[in-house]
Amino acid sequence: MPGQRADVQEIKSRLSIVDIISRYVTLTPSGAGYKGKCPFHKDDTPSMTVSEEKGLWHCFGCGEGGDLIAFVMKIERLSFIDATRRLAEEAGVSFDVAEDGARDELREIMAEVANAFVLNLRSPAGKKARDYLLNRGYPEDCWMTYGLGYALPGWENVKRAFAKYGEATLLKLGLLVQGDKGVYDRFRDRTIFPILDVSGRPIAFGGRAFEGQPKYLNSSQTPLFDKGRVIYGLSWARERMSQTRIAVLVEGYTDVLSLHQADIRNAVGSMGTALTQGQAEMLKRFVDEVVIAYDQDAAGSAASLRGMQVLRNVGLNVRVARLPLGEDPDGFVRAHGSEAMQEIFESSLPFHEFFIESLKARHDLSTVRGKEQLLEDAREFYADIRSSALREVIERAIADLVDLSIESVRRELPRKRKPRHEEGESRPSAEHWGVEEHVLALVLRGEATWSAFEPYLSPSDFTGANRSIAEYLSKGSMELSELMGVLDEEGARRASFYALSPIRINVEGTIEDAKRWMGRLPAIEKRLQELDREIERSGQEEDWTRWDELQKAKSDLRKALIQAKDAKRKGIHEQQDNQENPEG
Ligand code: CTP
Ligand code: MN
Repeated sequence: MPGQRADVQEIKSRLSIVDIISRYVTLTPSGAGYKGKCPFHKDDTPSMTVSEEKGLWHCFGCGEGGDLIAFVMKIERLSFIDATRRLAEEAGVSFDVAEDGARDELREIMAEVANAFVLNLRSPAGKKARDYLLNRGYPEDCWMTYGLGYALPGWENVKRAFAKYGEATLLKLGLLVQGDKGVYDRFRDRTIFPILDVSGRPIAFGGRAFEGQPKYLNSSQTPLFDKGRVIYGLSWARERMSQTRIAVLVEGYTDVLSLHQADIRNAVGSMGTALTQGQAEMLKRFVDEVVIAYDQDAAGSAASLRGMQVLRNVGLNVRVARLPLGEDPDGFVRAHGSEAMQEIFESSLPFHEFFIESLKARHDLSTVRGKEQLLEDAREFYADIRSSALREVIERAIADLVDLSIESVRRELPRKRKPRHEEGESRPSAEHWGVEEHVLALVLRGEATWSAFEPYLSPSDFTGANRSIAEYLSKGSMELSELMGVLDEEGARRASFYALSPIRINVEGTIEDAKRWMGRLPAIEKRLQELDREIERSGQEEDWTRWDELQKAKSDLRKALIQAKDAKRKGIHEQQDNQENPEG
């Protein structure tokens, strides 16, 4: 008989993170916490720190980290729910057992609704959607295979047909929307693409409008649909993916369907361009390599670059397919056929070549300024490359582009210092720490309060995963266990790093830095936008003297922007040369 029901915070609070991690890793006391060899990478020195007090672990070698649940998820390869359930058992409490039964019921409701959409497609009212699908080249057997359907026009079809399950449940499943005057159907007069879990059960829907906006409408986040971890088409593609160890990653529902129809059955969709780490990890379970085949437009190439980093960071090989400009895989495979499409995938570029190409395309290499900007632009990506052979290839390519010697390019591009492995100690790499990181580490380690920085910065000054940490801290709360619950994985990794890092940081200096840099970037960016408008106006008025002045101001300001970015990233250097021995 399970004991008292508990939530995640409660479960974590009942268990010792040191005890549990000790079952997998030999931990020895060190400073205020424990150290051990990280089980998630080949670790010769103990690079992992565990803090009972903070309830966190972090590996300063590979960067993994988080709370107890994150550790169990990773080491036992469990989902969040399963890891939590296992820990609950250990803590002698029950976790969501009731809700678990409810999940099965939720799944059944989704299956029924999916079926209703399928029937609608075949009903007289579905003619519009049938014609639409046929016109786009999706014949009847394809509707069956992929479970396509149609949501009827009108505001209360689903609401009425499934009333017996109660509005609250239908809302929870994202099928209804709460309006001012009650609830109504989310999907109305749309062609329906069901989104299935890895076992092929419907957990959400994407609905395409015939015309009008938004073009696609998707289910909201629900207990069954964790957007950050779902990949469209996985259940159809998993077999071919496991055989070939390669996935083709596209943006859209129609891209996936058209590729599958062309017998390219390892195609899956990210459902838009923002690939998440959870999605990348999901892919990693099936393949070693991902070919990114995003739409060939500006948004698509920017997204390919970001997606590339996300995929590489989970250890996947990445290549990028080059479609003709303006085309997506759906359009291409229809126009040119399966073989031409296969050829494109086979000749896709290794990620670093794609990166060089995109650098070339983004900068005007006929000017010195353009070359400087290219180098600036390349820094972050380059710093992430671990292989020295690959680094050299990139250095050479960049040297050719900007007409510099390879030595000068090397001087320009910062390299992550090799971690110094001295006997019995490892050092966190905080080389890329800037003001943001210093502030977060100080607050998370309890050495300063958020209010000390509050006059000079707001969460919106922070970038990437740092922002969600800052948002939490800015509410004045500092409950690490609760914080870990609101962060995504990247956030959790960072937060555990900051909270456990042994680097000495000067509080006063960081406050000074915050004053100097944090507010400046948005202000400069805003002024640059204003300048652009003024330049345009003076052009229209043909006031060329003023136009010249403004152009000069703009160029100065751009320089200031680059400096400010750099300074914000670097922060106060002295702090980094002043690392405390973690043993001490
Ligand atoms: N998407 C979305 N919401 C939008 C637009 C797009 O969720 N408002 C997601 C959908 O998963 C869509 C994918 O992004 O399939 C790609 O979008 P887009 O390229 O605009 O659509 P296509 O797949 O090209 O759609 P279609 O072929 O139907 O025009
Ligand atoms: Mn598209």
